[in-house]
Amino acid sequence: MKKTTCTLPHPEILAEITEPLLRWYHAQETERALPWREEVTPYHTWLSEIMLQQTRASAVIPYYHRFLEALPDIKALAACDDELLMKLWQGLGYYSRARNLKKAAIEITAQYDGQMPADFQKLLALPGIGRYTASAIGSIAFGLPLPAVDGNILRVVMRVLACREDIAKDTTKRAAEAALAPHYPEGHEAGALNQAFMDLGATVCLPHGTPHCESCPLARLCLAHDAGCEQELPIKIIKKKRRVEKLTVLVLRQGKNIALHKRPAKGLLAGLWEFPNVSGHLSADEVTKKLNAHGLTPLRVQKLPDAKHIFSHVEWQMQAFRIDLAEPAEPADFTVMEHHDELIWASPQELADIYSIPSAFQYFLPII
Ligand code: ADE
Repeated sequence: MKKTTCTLPHPEILAEITEPLLRWYHAQETERALPWREEVTPYHTWLSEIMLQQTRASAVIPYYHRFLEALPDIKALAACDDELLMKLWQGLGYYSRARNLKKAAIEITAQYDGQMPADFQKLLALPGIGRYTASAIGSIAFGLPLPAVDGNILRVVMRVLACREDIAKDTTKRAAEAALAPHYPEGHEAGALNQAFMDLGATVCLPHGTPHCESCPLARLCLAHDAGCEQELPIKIIKKKRRVEKLTVLVLRQGKNIALHKRPAKGLLAGLWEFPNVSGHLSADEVTKKLNAHGLTPLRVQKLPDAKHIFSHVEWQMQAFRIDLAEPAEPADFTVMEHHDELIWASPQELADIYSIPSAFQYFLPII
């Protein structure tokens, strides 16, 4: 059964990290002077968080200044010309971010009189704002005690707790949010704590290469550092998307015999026997036409139930037809499979005793 919750080991350690982390952040503040930290308003925080979603802080700075010069407040953004908006965003990429900013500004103007709502759920309901961004705005601009859980926070938390949960899973993110939330202060320090995590992740608790544990304010509490496994963490399992291939499988019968085809010597199911098949989902008419074109006359074309087979990188979505052929087929002419090699005709006994059919095609065996 799919796991729907996740608990983190030793969550009590998280109670101890806020104080040293905030102390470290305030000592560093001058070193990461960023414009959105200088004059904090909900609009400034929102704009910077959206720009920072896909772009490094140093690259964002000139765009941030230019944007605010042209569109200094939410009402100006709501009323702006789309051309100007695109021009201001040009070079940052992911233009849907800019379009969502304007859409949200229109909503904020209409529903909240141009003031961003100081409420997590209301922020979350705005276009382009997910849990992380709603928490970042809520904490930085409104002092709400909301952990803004992104890759940085997750990396720090998984290392501090020596936790091997997969950070790609939503359950792990939610567990980190739940474990951190009780330790978040209210007011200015809520945003400071989130930005402390961001800075620690960006400058000390690095994702690639050796983290700078020697200058980490959390090193003495960090279970991964203690065990020497900080570079193994966090665990992130990236699922490759399976390629979907549609196939039409032909269970060709000539009298009692069934047509089989040998797969190519290389590739998926190399050299194994299969039922003849063609790529794509063909209709019964298309199958008949294809067979006719090869001099074959189907007596009966019967649709079989669809089947799906999942390999590690490919998913076959198969539809199938059972086809009774009228004439003794001429195997050498039969190139319906788009491979110009021969079919063999196997009796049911031979099918059971000699030819092993890979499980991808087993769905159709009981029908025979
Ligand atoms: N990345 C995302 N939000 C940030 C912030 N407020 N400061 C620095 N880097 C960030």
